Amino acid sequence: MADFPILVTGGAGFIGSNLVDTLLARGYSVRVLDNLSTGKRENLPADGRVELIVGDVADAECVRQAVSGCRAVVHLAAVASVQASVDDPFGTHQSNLIGTLNLCEAMREAGVRRVLFASSAAVYGNNGEGQAIDEDTPKAPLTPYAADKLASEHYLDFYRRQHGLEPVIFRFFNIFGPRQDPSSPYSGVISIFTERAQKGLPITVFGDGEQTRDFVYVGDLVDVLVQALESPVVEEGAVNVGLNRATTLNQLLEAIGEVLGGLPAVGYQAPRAGDIRHSRANNARLLQRYRLPEPPTDMRDGLARLLGL
Ligand SMILES: NC(=O)c1ccc[n+]([C@@H]2O[C@H](COP(=O)([O-])OP(=O)(O)OC[C@H]3O[C@@H](n4cnc5c(N)ncnc54)[C@H](O)[C@@H]3O)[C@@H](O)[C@H]2O)c1
Repeated sequence: MADFPILVTGGAGFIGSNLVDTLLARGYSVRVLDNLSTGKRENLPADGRVELIVGDVADAECVRQAVSGCRAVVHLAAVASVQASVDDPFGTHQSNLIGTLNLCEAMREAGVRRVLFASSAAVYGNNGEGQAIDEDTPKAPLTPYAADKLASEHYLDFYRRQHGLEPVIFRFFNIFGPRQDPSSPYSGVISIFTERAQKGLPITVFGDGEQTRDFVYVGDLVDVLVQALESPVVEEGAVNVGLNRATTLNQLLEAIGEVLGGLPAVGYQAPRAGDIRHSRANNARLLQRYRLPEPPTDMRDGLARLLGL
């Protein structure tokens, strides 16, 4: 296996580095292409089977080299912050769409077919709010981030029809777990809350805390990604990755308090403009195509692992 690595773009980031660990444990060798913009070298284990290429997915030649000789690709590299895309649409577009296109071209040239893609629930915008959102819900990307994710899906589908690529498109809801970076105000809410709670710093909730999210532990997501890599068949159509469970931010805070044995002061401020109030996946397609751990990782267990307890 060592001669034909799996390429993980964005492999030094939160989800990518968790995937790399699992791939190594399953005997694969791994090549990571990452520009280390939010990813970190230290997220990757010191293991001779991991090759790190520090480079940009917007650089077509670099992507060509990274794809060469790979057995399959997991495309996670992106500017994952929605707000960054609002502030710098052109810059983030290079990573979030041109990067995907570079990858499609490089795979076509190299004859590499299987690619998993990290799309996002953001492609639905506010549609389906308050219900379990299924994959056929009309798309309404509200930000450059969401527009680039949706356009990437369409390009991958074009390369499937025209050039025989085998894209598997996942729309992640809210993923949480170890190595999620809490350093930006736009980081995942769990990483920010847990970091502040651990340091005893006050926590700010935007809105009344009754907004809901569908949280998935990163280890459960990684299990699904590995199944999609190893499956002999690829079915058409994007797949939501969520648990069809709505957790309010107030419930999340309560769980963090239980795991840590207490919470610092929690303050409430006006909701952030553009924030979606409710987000929950209809995950029937996910359950039909893949096995989720039964039961999926419980919020409290996931939090304990994130907190290293
Ligand atoms: N975390 C979530 O809840 C969530 C939800 C929906 C979608 N996603 C998607 O999943 C993927 C992984 O997200 P994450 O949460 O691990 O974020 P992350 O920021 O930890 O990972 C992204 C990685 O991509 C790298 N990267 C960014 N731009 C690059 C470029 N131009 N060239 C090469 N590398 C580049 C970063 O350095 C980082 O290592 C992203 O595509 C993100 O949009 C994540």
